[in-house]
Amino acid sequence: MAKSIKNKLNTSPIGIFDSGIGGLTVANAIHKILPNEQLIYFGDTAHFPYGEKSADSIKYYALRISDFLIKQNCKMIVIACNTASSVAYQIVKQQVGDKAMVVSVIEPVVSRVAALYQHGKIGVIATKGTIKSDVYAKRLKELNQSLQVASLATPLLAPMIEEGFFNNKISKTVINSYLERPKLKKIDALILACTHYPLIRPEIEDYYKQKVKIIDSAEIVAESVFNLLADKGLLNTAKTVKSKFYVSDFTESFANSTKIFYKGKIQLERFPLWENE
Ligand code: DGL
Repeated sequence: MAKSIKNKLNTSPIGIFDSGIGGLTVANAIHKILPNEQLIYFGDTAHFPYGEKSADSIKYYALRISDFLIKQNCKMIVIACNTASSVAYQIVKQQVGDKAMVVSVIEPVVSRVAALYQHGKIGVIATKGTIKSDVYAKRLKELNQSLQVASLATPLLAPMIEEGFFNNKISKTVINSYLERPKLKKIDALILACTHYPLIRPEIEDYYKQKVKIIDSAEIVAESVFNLLADKGLLNTAKTVKSKFYVSDFTESFANSTKIFYKGKIQLERFPLWENE
């Protein structure tokens, strides 16, 4: 039986998961403001991309991964994937119960945006799964009815980034062809609603030439992780053991891209979570 949150120690790890290595942008931001915390990262590379999967499949993966992280005695689970957060946040929270805190990448961002903008047009770019769930538009409107939300699925971006295609001619063409869509005209801010997109932030900024505020979730989520742990008195003040980075399928290309997503030297380890299915 996993312990309840009341019995967790400050030194218990923070679990983080994503469909691949994009969630490392969130892990990196957490590590930057909480360098003492031990992170246990799980990238479900065997099932990447989640953006093209059914909601039922994503829920199943998210529940199994959360169960794995609970068995590692995590005090908190960060769903560092917008697609998984958009369809599986509630069900993961239900399953985890009082054993750990569960953080989605969506809630901290919509709260921040609703606080920043009283009115205006907010663009959202994300995977097909996240856009289909309509969660950003729904939550933003719940928090502030006068906001206009323009959501656009940009399914080529995550696989392109995961394969290391950014900051080159191909990525520029793909990014610009999405951003030029009429739907995104006259936006005041653009939410990068996929944890892979911080890697193409410079190219997006280049396109908008500072006329549009770009909002990426990594730092906002990391601040929320800090506040939640501080509230519960669960911040780790002592230097802990090394973080762990697991993937369900290991390829050299993932290992190479890791260096770009996470600013410290990390070793990806394969963990056979889906074997004997
Ligand atoms: N990192 C995932 C997200 O934030 C997207 C990649 C995928 O399609 O799996 O939505």
